[in-house]
Amino acid sequence: MTMCGIVGYIGSKPAAPLLLEGLAKLEYRGYDSAGIATLSGDEIVIIKKKGKLEVLEAELKNTRLSSSIGIGHTRWATHGKPSDENAHPHYDCEGNFAVVHNGIIENYQELKKELIAEGHRFHSETDTEVIVHLVEKYYQGDLLATVEKVVELIDGAYAMVVLAKNEPERLVCARKDSPLVVGLGENENFLASDIPAILKHTRRVFLLEDGEVAAVTKDRVEVFKDGKKVDKEVFEVTWDAEAAEKGGYPHFMLKEIFEQPRALRATLKGRLDNGSVVLDELGCLDRINEYHKVYFVACGTAYHAGLVGKSVVENLARVPAEADIASEFRYREPLIDDRTLVVVISQSGETADTLAAMREAQAKGAPVIAITNVVGSSVSREADAVIYTWAGPEIAVASTKAYLTQLAAVYLFGLFLAQERGMLTGEQVAVVSRALRELPDQVEKVLEQADKVKKLACEWAKRENAFFIGRGLDWAVSLEGALKLKEISYIHAEAYAAGELKHGTLALITDGVPVVALATQNTVFDKTVSNIKEVKARGAHVTGVVFEGVDLGDTVDELITIPKTTPLLAPILSVVPLQLLAYYAAVARGSDVDKPRNLAKSVTVE
Ligand code: M6R
Repeated sequence: MTMCGIVGYIGSKPAAPLLLEGLAKLEYRGYDSAGIATLSGDEIVIIKKKGKLEVLEAELKNTRLSSSIGIGHTRWATHGKPSDENAHPHYDCEGNFAVVHNGIIENYQELKKELIAEGHRFHSETDTEVIVHLVEKYYQGDLLATVEKVVELIDGAYAMVVLAKNEPERLVCARKDSPLVVGLGENENFLASDIPAILKHTRRVFLLEDGEVAAVTKDRVEVFKDGKKVDKEVFEVTWDAEAAEKGGYPHFMLKEIFEQPRALRATLKGRLDNGSVVLDELGCLDRINEYHKVYFVACGTAYHAGLVGKSVVENLARVPAEADIASEFRYREPLIDDRTLVVVISQSGETADTLAAMREAQAKGAPVIAITNVVGSSVSREADAVIYTWAGPEIAVASTKAYLTQLAAVYLFGLFLAQERGMLTGEQVAVVSRALRELPDQVEKVLEQADKVKKLACEWAKRENAFFIGRGLDWAVSLEGALKLKEISYIHAEAYAAGELKHGTLALITDGVPVVALATQNTVFDKTVSNIKEVKARGAHVTGVVFEGVDLGDTVDELITIPKTTPLLAPILSVVPLQLLAYYAAVARGSDVDKPRNLAKSVTVE
């Protein structure tokens, strides 16, 4: 899954400035390079640059472009690092066609091999480039028919727009599992992967559906599916531009919380095969069976994912594991050597403390695996192996979908280690794999309780102190729940190992103090219930988080349930209501949810 931005224009105005303007409206999706293709005389001109749109804009200043047809793209790297060559649009051998694409072509390696054998010359490392060479291969004078043929040959997800030198009067586009919007203007038409890119020019739009291919001229859009013409219903966009960027959600954070099922599917995709775990990206670590210790090292939310990683590795692979805060790890002379495996976790891949800790580990001879969301980030470049989370760009400072996908990645890693070390039978691996696959649908179920959590959050919003308690993995999730609440609602929150409360912190529990108590871990369930009773007896207002079918009776004031899964995987489900709780409490308190005070999305200082 990628979150690249696509724009297309055909009309009577110069295309280049309109394309740039459209791309600027898609910047919020995140990108690392950008480019446009238009016509100049009877040539296709492609200008594409690594870096921000300003770099592209500066380059365009040196070029006279007046054509009224063009395509543009902002790329968020997946296959191939961020670079000028890997930026879109991509072109064929002779420069007759250009394509922009959002998505992933899963069978690109086979296709690329065939095309190279037939003499095609590739210019980039991307999966996308196979599309334009296939167009070149099959083109016989009709771009629409060619694209219809090409989409039959590719597997995976795509939104694409193709420009042909010999057909200056039309663009052809297609979509499957990646959004593509058609905007209808007067004597001009627009294409974009999201509405904000075209909103300044038209509010009359329709969405291309999966399997549809469209030919777009300046005064006509024809849509086809399986060769038959489709009538599309045009709708009028009533949102303002800012709401449109957030897909109609009031904040990026809420949008990202609701994107979690999709993000999780992307993390798991292709990595669970017939009951076994496939992590080809770890193939370069040839001694995976010999490491005697695993360290997870990270900051903030990513560190909380590491805490879960520690349990997962110990539980499944039976290898001793630690989780450490990067800024602590690097200065405490950790006892590591070449038989220690270090796993750094970082959404951005640019966090200064995490990077420094990683370099420290490598200097001591330990191989480093990075779990990160950003292709081409410093962490991904310097690590010995990388497991990408594929969450798509996360814009809100408070991390949500990145955390869930980091959890999915540590489960995959732990299970892989167990499998490779022979610590689990094939059947046992298959059982966990099945449970992992069910998680995205189960997260959807948890999200259905958003209104219930919102009501609770409105009460919490009136408080200045809150507690999150749990044992084992529930404690790790409590830490994340408390961090989320603190960072965006500014309510002071503490996470406590439930059994530890009575050693001091219980003194702070008084009438009405809100407590979330997580009780998803079977082995310590009864003990946790006793701890809940301790806070309840001191007047706390307790919200329990348990599996469906578990009844805590009057031990709690509110109950939030999550679908049944194996307790080891519970964090992926139990954290979701805590994210919603923090979000709605912050909204109720009028905080700047997406950009909380004093914080930055990427912490590049130590
Ligand atoms: O980009 P990273 O994952 O390395 O960032 C680490 C932390 O700065 C980050 O998780 C931070 O704690 C979040 N704002 C929490 O929501």
